[in-house]
Amino acid sequence: MQHHVWLVNRLPWPTDWAAFFGREAPLLVEIGFGGGHFLVEMAQRHLDANLLGVEISNPSLRRAQQKLNSRQLTNVRLLYGDAWVLFWLSCLPASVQGVYINFPDPWPKLAHQRRRLVSDAFLQLLATRMPAQAVLEIATDHADYQAWTSEHLARTPYFDSLTGSLFVTEDAARPRTKYEQRALAAGIPCHYYKYQRNHTPAVNDFPIFAELPMPHAIVSTPLTLSQIRERFAPETAALAEVNVRLIDAFMGTRHPALLVETYISESPMDQRVGLVLHQRAPGEILVTLHDIGFPRTTAGIHAAVRYLAEWVTSLHPDSAIKQHNLA
Ligand SMILES: C[S@@+](CC[C@H](N)C(=O)[O-])C[C@H]1O[C@@H](n2cnc3c(N)ncnc32)[C@H](O)[C@@H]1O
Repeated sequence: MQHHVWLVNRLPWPTDWAAFFGREAPLLVEIGFGGGHFLVEMAQRHLDANLLGVEISNPSLRRAQQKLNSRQLTNVRLLYGDAWVLFWLSCLPASVQGVYINFPDPWPKLAHQRRRLVSDAFLQLLATRMPAQAVLEIATDHADYQAWTSEHLARTPYFDSLTGSLFVTEDAARPRTKYEQRALAAGIPCHYYKYQRNHTPAVNDFPIFAELPMPHAIVSTPLTLSQIRERFAPETAALAEVNVRLIDAFMGTRHPALLVETYISESPMDQRVGLVLHQRAPGEILVTLHDIGFPRTTAGIHAAVRYLAEWVTSLHPDSAIKQHNLA
């Protein structure tokens, strides 16, 4: 069987995992599967479950793909993307029965610690997506990350230990990962956190985005696209729930169009897109989203189109937004 890699950023919001796998089964997710040893072994052991592996590293995805292609496993799928995006946008509440985080990147420098996957917010996100009794396992060989994970799991209201202690230092039954084998061979102790979701309700601060219609605004202005291009300067705007960065503007050579390269940060997803100004008629400009790069039409994209349209109107007193469909 040939295994594909699906892009997390292109999955439906939310994803119907039963349809995705072609069958109804408990959903288990490994975050950051690296070489894929654990994922493959889990898929073999749990033929009655649907397994997702999510990774942000392309070489890891290729290695796992090769491992899976040489086996006849139909219950596992590989996803390229960020675990935050996967759980937040593609997983409905109570839809995930198991989450495995093996040897997460330790980010040892103090300034980088906010990049650590284990955090109060991430545990809250997982708690909203996991039903009571769903399993959460975390393993680490990094002393500081171990202290960090202990702190977080000791204070989380949403997960309880299954072992009677914060962690255990041996778990012979569990498939070994590459990092684990490396650590054990070097005599570094590993710590295993085996928890389960309890009944404490978790506030869902992570609404699944709605996919909105293609945004457009029609601006009446006496300015031409070239005059607008001349006035363009990169800028950043912190709007409600979204940061918009206008990076650069490029004139089309074949059609009267000005493409504005834009970066949109909207938790949990960032998109680098083209917003575009088309000269529809003399004195009338259409501001919309270019389909370059297959953007998702989120509320943040609508906010960015509004921001750009308002900027264009600010350039001349005889300008106005005549019509729009912006959220
Ligand atoms: C230290 S490696 C461990 C690999 C493997 N689990 C093992 O134990 O051998 C951590 C892995 O997590 C992946 N990763 C880090 N942050 C991630 C995220 N937000 N979503 C998905 N994967 C992530 C990295 O690309 C990397 O492959």
